Amino acid sequence: MIQNYLKTATNSWRTQAPGLRVMRFWLGITWIYAGWNKATDSGFLTAGSSSYIGTQLSGYSTQSPVGFAFNKMIEHAVLVGGFVMVSEFAIGLATLLWVAPRLSAFAGFSMSVGLWLASSFHANPYFLASDSAYAVLWLSYLLLLVGKRKGFEMSLERRGALRVGLTGVLAVGLAGFGKVFAKAAPSTSNSAASAKGTKIIKLASLKVGATHNFATKNGAPAVLFRTKAGVFAYSAICTHQGCTVAYSGASKTLKCPCHGAEFDPYKSAKVINGPAQSPLAKVKVSISGAWVIEA
Ligand code: FES
Repeated sequence: MIQNYLKTATNSWRTQAPGLRVMRFWLGITWIYAGWNKATDSGFLTAGSSSYIGTQLSGYSTQSPVGFAFNKMIEHAVLVGGFVMVSEFAIGLATLLWVAPRLSAFAGFSMSVGLWLASSFHANPYFLASDSAYAVLWLSYLLLLVGKRKGFEMSLERRGALRVGLTGVLAVGLAGFGKVFAKAAPSTSNSAASAKGTKIIKLASLKVGATHNFATKNGAPAVLFRTKAGVFAYSAICTHQGCTVAYSGASKTLKCPCHGAEFDPYKSAKVINGPAQSPLAKVKVSISGAWVIEA
């Protein structure tokens, strides 16, 4: 079985046109790397981390033209993240190993379109969006594979199904193996090791009583407040499942759109309404000259 698996892969490389080999190699390696990148990021499936998939879905739900679809996924963020990670491994491996090649190319194309709609739909100019470029590359590769065949024949005979199964097992194995090399989850609050202050906003532009949404040095969403007593800020990542909270002037609270948690920013961001259990993480900010900076 394994011998056949490898023999088919080797033959496919040998007989393929050079142009197709280049596309196939690049797409396969890139998809495996994308999966590996997620598997080795211990924050990817950890609520509260700045790279948490739930936070990303929350961002997509507000900026994507199909945001309603991503909004529904937030509650199942860990499942969605795990599925995306394993799928990336599976598509990359299947592409390199010539397992259900047309089906893999179609899956790669669909995933690229999904990522384009999710995160880079508003890229300006449009050609800076790598997801759309990958969608075109996958589509071209798929059409070249289909060639003169009639229609998009993607059915699998028994041996093909076994090879797909084996590739799936490899993909799950790689996702698990990545955890061995996991890097520490990026923190949503600042540490002493942070670099020197980063400018957030000019103090003159932030009136007493006003708030300002910004991204921390880690790229995580945060909300800055100015009161008579000075400035302070909190991470906008909900401590329940990682959605992005927003300040409500009416209730003077930070509210989470996903499950209704509320935090009091004037009392150390403590929880007023669940289901969140712990306060929002504090972000260290201070006034430096004419600027509010992140320490
Ligand atoms: S993510 Fe559930 S209440 Fe915020």
